[in-house]
Amino acid sequence: MAKKRVGILFGGKSVEHEVSLQSARNVFEAVDPAKFDVVLIGIDKAGQWHVCDAALLGAAASPKAELAAGAGGESLALVPGGTEPALVGVGSHRGLPPLDVVFPVLHGTYGEDGTVQGLLKLANVPFVGAGVLGSAVGMDKDIAKRILRDAGIPVTRSVTLTARTAPGVTFEELAGKFGAPFFVKPANSGSSVGVSKVRDAASWAAARTEALRYDRKLLVEEFISGREIEVAVLGNDDPRASVPGEIIPQHDFYSYEAKYLDENGALLRIPAGLTPAIGERVRQLAVDTFIALDCAGMARVDFFVCADGRAYVNEINTIPGFTKISMYPKLWEATGVPYRDLIERLIDLAIERHQREQQIETSYRPAG
Ligand SMILES: Nc1ncnc2c1ncn2[C@@H]1O[C@H](COP(=O)(O)OP(=O)(O)O)[C@@H](O)[C@H]1O
Ligand SMILES: [Mg+2]
Repeated sequence: MAKKRVGILFGGKSVEHEVSLQSARNVFEAVDPAKFDVVLIGIDKAGQWHVCDAALLGAAASPKAELAAGAGGESLALVPGGTEPALVGVGSHRGLPPLDVVFPVLHGTYGEDGTVQGLLKLANVPFVGAGVLGSAVGMDKDIAKRILRDAGIPVTRSVTLTARTAPGVTFEELAGKFGAPFFVKPANSGSSVGVSKVRDAASWAAARTEALRYDRKLLVEEFISGREIEVAVLGNDDPRASVPGEIIPQHDFYSYEAKYLDENGALLRIPAGLTPAIGERVRQLAVDTFIALDCAGMARVDFFVCADGRAYVNEINTIPGFTKISMYPKLWEATGVPYRDLIERLIDLAIERHQREQQIETSYRPAG
């Protein structure tokens, strides 16, 4: 069988740019060179695409600086409509061999939020993970919670505010509704960027300013004192859930510092050591969440599980981290799917979904 050309998309115009580089390095190393030719496509912080050399992701490289400088060379464009070649150099008009599939290893804005997925869909390239809708609603914590609530899936109580409405709401009003402390977070962000635990009026003012740096909407959420449980989901229309894992933050909460800056910032416990009934419950809720939000391929669903057994979906990540220490691949390893097989399965799922989408008619034809 001919080798497939896989484009790995990484970097991106997002506060999670650097995290994406770590994930991309691991995905790249895991792709079986006997089966796939890899094209590395780095997206710089301005949003331009460049074909990158493998050395850019090497352990010793500082990809951030090079990508920021656009040293990946000529910028690329994706051509809509599925005419080959799909990728061309913007200056030279030089076409690159077409890609069979794209693996977006992008986190956050302009990567996980449906925008890149829309571009790939217009270019008629199969891609790993959720489509436009699943990505967009999965990224927006406000919209995702509305849909989950409608599906009867338990989520934390919250209100959504904007730059216009937030300053008019006092700490006392919020504490009266949710108790204190409470959480404040941008509706669209990730990696805990812009997330604060609020204990008093001064920290409410600081927290809303901080959250609104990253989005035009923020959520004020009741604080849930519970264990942080994560479940990996894999599949298209018949998705499977992994064993649950637990994150045990060593900081006040699972902050950016605890995630990325402090190597002892959080402990991972896999499997989580839940009772069989609660384990089954969160696995089922993870699959229900995946389906309710119209996801595909992969997602990681994160929960709070309280001492009395109540479980709340906190959020979904449609492009979970793929670093060596990331929960998503580790959960599948513990469920019997090694990293390399996982990457291949995700690529297969992308192609399978694309083939099915090709059968959807785009011209009206009377039935029968
Ligand atoms: N309602 C909440 N109750 C308790 N802890 C929370 C709450 N919301 C967020 N946190 C803490 O903040 C972290 C980051 O919040 P999260 O909503 O997961 O945002 P992100 O998408 O940035 O990961 C969580 O992992 C958890 O430690
Ligand atoms: Mg989170």
